[in-house]
Amino acid sequence: MKAREVVLVDGIRTAYGRAGEKGFFWHTRADDMVVKVIRELLRRNPQVTPDMVEENVWGATTQEGDQGLTLGRTSAILAGLSEKCAGASIDRMCASGMTAVTTAASEIALGAFDIAIAGGVEHMGHHPMGATADPNPRFLVDRLVSEDAIVMGKTAENLHDMFPEISKEMTDEYAMLSQHKTARAYKEGKITKMIVPMTVYTPEGWVVADRDQQPRPDTTLEGLRDLHTPFRPMGKVTPGNASGLNDGACGVLLMSADKAKELNLQPKMRLVAFTYAGVKAEVMGLGPIPATHKVFKISGLTMDDIDFIELNEAFAVQCIAFMQEFKLKWPDEPRLNPWGGAIALGHPLASSGPRLMIHLMHEFAANPKAKYGLATMCVGLGQGGSVIWENLQGDGKKTPKKKAATKKKKK
Ligand SMILES: CC(C)(COP(=O)(O)OP(=O)(O)OC[C@H]1O[C@@H](n2cnc3c(N)ncnc32)[C@H](O)[C@@H]1OP(=O)(O)O)[C@@H](O)C(=O)NCCC(=O)NCCS
Repeated sequence: MKAREVVLVDGIRTAYGRAGEKGFFWHTRADDMVVKVIRELLRRNPQVTPDMVEENVWGATTQEGDQGLTLGRTSAILAGLSEKCAGASIDRMCASGMTAVTTAASEIALGAFDIAIAGGVEHMGHHPMGATADPNPRFLVDRLVSEDAIVMGKTAENLHDMFPEISKEMTDEYAMLSQHKTARAYKEGKITKMIVPMTVYTPEGWVVADRDQQPRPDTTLEGLRDLHTPFRPMGKVTPGNASGLNDGACGVLLMSADKAKELNLQPKMRLVAFTYAGVKAEVMGLGPIPATHKVFKISGLTMDDIDFIELNEAFAVQCIAFMQEFKLKWPDEPRLNPWGGAIALGHPLASSGPRLMIHLMHEFAANPKAKYGLATMCVGLGQGGSVIWENLQGDGKKTPKKKAATKKKKK
């Protein structure tokens, strides 16, 4: 059976709140955030009626309470999709939403469905990271995995040990840049168009959550320098150079290229290739490196062919290790997270994979000459995910450098 082409037609997210009682989503259910995203995707694309969506796949790292009971099915019912719509839940920790998208895309590619919605949600206020997990003690004893592997911030400190040339000053500089890039993107109206406003009840009354709560646009190196290091005494990882604890949902509308054509929809991106790869759990932040090498091998592309890189900023140190591996320009590689990343925007775990993808979608729209984009992220317990998308909003004139080189050789 020949795989069918899969396209991303649209994507949207909620604002990202701060987790906990001060966050605007504290009194809002995670599944209602998912429903908001699904309804908005349908509102924005009226050619797709609710009964046309055949599959609804949602990722969440904690699958219980308001994120339990097979979120893909419950949210399909709540959102008013047809009762014939199938639904599934996915867990690959931080890459749960990314995996929801690649799973739904694979299903479409194999002809199981024509149209699917996929995304990720995490209400870290309702579900603090790992709070109800019960790791098998053999995990630590028999398999000799260090206890550090369970605390993501400790894995980031381990990366500092592994790469002593990545200094605390460098991670702070990276973090400040992320904050400033997001501040600029907000000013230019680039972020709010990715957000569906949601009216939510808070202790201050009803408010409209339409902007992220995490960004600190006034961040300075001085302000970052002396922040506490919660993961190791005298460590290097601080609340300033790490992603935060957040609530949010993000989803995309996927279909076969043929279906998009039939419905007269203009798809935004075509899925080129994706993969996942494992690394040592104690240094989980390295995950994007092997996953990206692998996705390049699968696609035949190289970093030179990539016009935009959306790298999830779980921790600055892990992003710098990625930059070094792929020889990206320090400190400001123009292709990398041009509108900032999770350090500024927030990282509601499972939601972040699709968020990287909708950044690519908008970056492509703003840069018609761009051809390929990479979305990549690290995953707790030692994995990385990488997905390559092709711009369908461009003029299609740019030839991938690698293919151009091959042609020359043949002559
Ligand atoms: C690092 C971490 C423990 C910090 O938690 P926290 O203490 O609740 O963080 P806060 O955002 O409240 O920041 C603490 C303080 O740091 C300071 N701070 C944070 N960012 C700052 C910045 N950019 N500039 C200046 N000060 C900053 C503030 O003073 C803040 O205090 P405030 O309440 O007065 O504003 C938490 O964010 C964390 O665990 N992050 C990692 C999440 C994770 O592992 N995700 C999965 C990745 S795989």
